[in-house]
Amino acid sequence: MEMGANQYQYKWRGGFCLEVNALPNTIVIFGASGDLTGRKLLPALYGLSKRQLLHHRSKIIGCARTPMTDEKFRNYLFEKWFSSLPASESGEIQAFLERVYYQPGDYGDPLFYKTLAARLNELETDLNPEHSGRVYYLAVPPVLCTPVIRQMSTAGLLQENQDASPWRRVILEKPFGHDYESALELDRMLHQYLQERQIYRIDHYLGKETVQNIMIFRFANVIFEPVWNAKYIDSVQITAAESVGVEHRGGYFDHTGLLRDMFQNHILEMLSLVAMEKPENSDAESIRNEKLKLLKSIRPIQINDVVRGQYEDYRNEPGVQHDSDTETYAAMKIYIDNTRWNGVPFYLRSGKKLAEKRSSISIRFKPVSHSVFYPVREEDLAPNVLTLNVQPEEGLSLTIQAKHPGPKLCIGSLNMDFKYASILEPGESIPDSYERLLLDCMLGDQTLFIRSDTILEAWKLLMPILQSWKEKSENPLYPYPQGSWGPKEANLLPAEQKTIWLN
Ligand code: BG6
Repeated sequence: MEMGANQYQYKWRGGFCLEVNALPNTIVIFGASGDLTGRKLLPALYGLSKRQLLHHRSKIIGCARTPMTDEKFRNYLFEKWFSSLPASESGEIQAFLERVYYQPGDYGDPLFYKTLAARLNELETDLNPEHSGRVYYLAVPPVLCTPVIRQMSTAGLLQENQDASPWRRVILEKPFGHDYESALELDRMLHQYLQERQIYRIDHYLGKETVQNIMIFRFANVIFEPVWNAKYIDSVQITAAESVGVEHRGGYFDHTGLLRDMFQNHILEMLSLVAMEKPENSDAESIRNEKLKLLKSIRPIQINDVVRGQYEDYRNEPGVQHDSDTETYAAMKIYIDNTRWNGVPFYLRSGKKLAEKRSSISIRFKPVSHSVFYPVREEDLAPNVLTLNVQPEEGLSLTIQAKHPGPKLCIGSLNMDFKYASILEPGESIPDSYERLLLDCMLGDQTLFIRSDTILEAWKLLMPILQSWKEKSENPLYPYPQGSWGPKEANLLPAEQKTIWLN
């Protein structure tokens, strides 16, 4: 059934699909020779192009310092990022790269923006200004964001007509400030040149399949929402574990730390989706309002409920200070002061150089109120645990109690495991989160992007911890062996609830 110019609802394997195709637009990438562009942005745009979700008249223009022609840039991209793809895709890759252009220049030079503006006008002659626009992706170091936006504004590159056509949208990568004050300052700067509806603050976790599915799971099924509260839930755990260390980002990370790098954004975003109230509907503002409300109802975090750690040998990583007290692991217990979550602890943790790469959300339910299987007591029956696996194997699992087949009555845990990969057609793959997020920006859908007030609220929540660490608080920095699950002191957090971290 057609619902609008570009919006379709159609049947999909017994369900339905809402598909909106982006109108033609131009994607301008600042930082075109960087890692993010090569590893994530171009593959994501290529993925969209293969799925026919990038309009055939859309173009991509990369900007960086090195002087290069379009042709040379395409060859460079092919050699560095696309040559490892299967030979059967070479035609598609070539066709995609032909839509990629290059504009060299110095981000500090006003002439660069004038030349870019002229180049864009030239490339966009076949676009209808009323139904097109530009995505500007700032894949540049944070210090360059302000000067680039200011210069773009001066050169008229951010200018929209009164009816917001042709649209101009800016995608920004984190960090969104280093603390509350600098985040506020960044925000003020952004709002000097842009309206909030033009700002797309990316958190790639929000584009992950399982994270997107949290809302569908909670609000499109009748069986979960009635038990999604303090009456039935004992505790919730959110983990974002990585097996890698700081790699080549030692300099950046040492100045940032795990709390800013993972909690301020990814962990708190996942928490908001899991714990927020039901939004009025699925539009961006309703959902973002609920997420904000949730963050506001988190009880101030007690420093004694936070454990921080540093992996052994971190101080010998390139770019890291020899006496660094930057945390590479953090775990905490938080409470949400509202009726739904009254008294339910949320255990959050994230770290580098841990035993494995795994991100998941586990909901641990309370035991049955009365066991009828005498002499088995309620506490002998393992609780139900629902786990949403964010990565690496996107899916969900539910642990239930069941009878073991056989003549005796043996009750034990049974794991019902579902992996998204199992429902893919042959040749289909789960798209990278950047694919979804870039498409949403082209469509003007801000649902999966972080709103200004949410960023500030997240900082407000973490500032007392950061402040206390800065003042060399009583909160020790525990060393932990690489390849472990972090400092053993973190085990005390869930132990209070007679539980353990669910690894
Ligand atoms: C980034 C952090 O936001 O997320 C990195 O800056 C981290 O330090 C990365 O490695 C983890 O993302 P993912 O998708 O690999 O879990």
